[in-house]
Amino acid sequence: MLMRRRDEYAEPYRVKVVERVKQTTREEREKLIAEAHYNVFSLPSWAVYIDLLTDSGTSAMSDNQWAGMMLGDEAYAGSRNYYNLKDVVREITGYEYVLPVHQGRGAEHVLMASMVRPGDRVLGNMHFDTTEGHILLRGAEPVNCLRAEGLIPEKEAPFKGDIDLVRLEEEITKDPSKVPFILITVTCNNNGGQPVSMENIRKTREIADKYGIPVFFDAARFAENCYFIKDREPGYAHKSVGEIAREMFSYGDGFTMSAKKDALVNIGGLLAFRHEKHYKQAVQWQIPFEGFITYGGLAGRDMEAMARGLREVLDESYLEDRIGQVAYLGELMEKEGIPVVKPPGGHGIYINALPLLPHIPRENFPAQSLVVELYIEGGIRGVELGGCAFGHKDPETGKDVWPELELVRLAIPRRVYSDRHMKLVAQSVARVRDRAKDIKGLRLVEEAPVLRHFTARFERVPG
Ligand code: F0G
Repeated sequence: MLMRRRDEYAEPYRVKVVERVKQTTREEREKLIAEAHYNVFSLPSWAVYIDLLTDSGTSAMSDNQWAGMMLGDEAYAGSRNYYNLKDVVREITGYEYVLPVHQGRGAEHVLMASMVRPGDRVLGNMHFDTTEGHILLRGAEPVNCLRAEGLIPEKEAPFKGDIDLVRLEEEITKDPSKVPFILITVTCNNNGGQPVSMENIRKTREIADKYGIPVFFDAARFAENCYFIKDREPGYAHKSVGEIAREMFSYGDGFTMSAKKDALVNIGGLLAFRHEKHYKQAVQWQIPFEGFITYGGLAGRDMEAMARGLREVLDESYLEDRIGQVAYLGELMEKEGIPVVKPPGGHGIYINALPLLPHIPRENFPAQSLVVELYIEGGIRGVELGGCAFGHKDPETGKDVWPELELVRLAIPRRVYSDRHMKLVAQSVARVRDRAKDIKGLRLVEEAPVLRHFTARFERVPG
């Protein structure tokens, strides 16, 4: 292993600005979560002590990025910040054609609108929720071809984000003309931030070439994926993360990116292409939906911060510290005997709620119950990725259909929390586990027809 042990180094940065956080009492949190109808999306962020709801848009920007904000050239057309951003993207990926967008789903919207037709099938390792949403909105079908062990939480494997290549080719041969492109999500968020190996990416490209199908990346966490390749894949230990990224992107024709993750900014996204023909198709949708091609819904200063963040994220001491912190929280959880998805991914720890709360039936939402109790216990906000987020009612029978996994994600913002925060998180989860038998679960009392987890309302099961 290339990564050092957590106690062999310290953060590769100094803290220059701090934000005070409020600490609430347990009684206050009981009241706040009841008022939020037991849904942490409805909590005001001031009432959260350690906010692990998402790693998206929650990073701390550097002094260099903030200084860049002052250099924002707020021009509608031709901002110098756009050209700088374009140069950085070309340097990292080799792609010529760059469109800024307001965030990741903006890039997905433009890409799907310009390339996906009704009846198409978009193949990938495992599409993120918004990606899936945009594919469905085009009347097309999202198809996940993740290797089987990617969905086994306790299975240790270095690249659980890999595509099952046999399955991929089977899906293509059903009708290659219906596959507008293959989308590889690096790292794979939905199964725990698990990386995809270079070998798998290279072989995906070979298969795609046999059928003349383009390959795109969902590059939200591309640098974290490249660091895992360096750390875990034979032959990459002596390459820089920058070289690894360049090789990875060489197997693709373009990418979508939520810059709110690995570009270390609070807002922004990117869509980029190798070929002019894809770019020209996309521009027609970019302008009406995101804005002119040189700003895409962003201010010049946002593009400057993004350009600088993209350079910073390739710093290997940063990546070691970042991925090391996630792994550290994973170790603490294991020491406490908390069942988590293994190995730890790049951006968070995913707790398996079923073995932790085995007495709570699926219809009483074990993972959501754990999220609520963790908030009450320590003022910590995680997110449910289980029966509420991915379950639904069968339209014919009216019966609940439950997803395979019932997880709670603790996503770690970049450069924000210390290892002492991580200790507190692990201790709080352990305390919830110790009183697990007294937790009765929740009843869903109100839900929206789509993406119900954001606004769902619950009541406590009496007992
Ligand atoms: N792709 C991936 C892999 C993502 O994780 C996300 C967002 C998006 C696309 C969409 O990007 O939010 O900028 O529009 N993930 C966040 C999360 C929301 O919490 O995991 P966006």
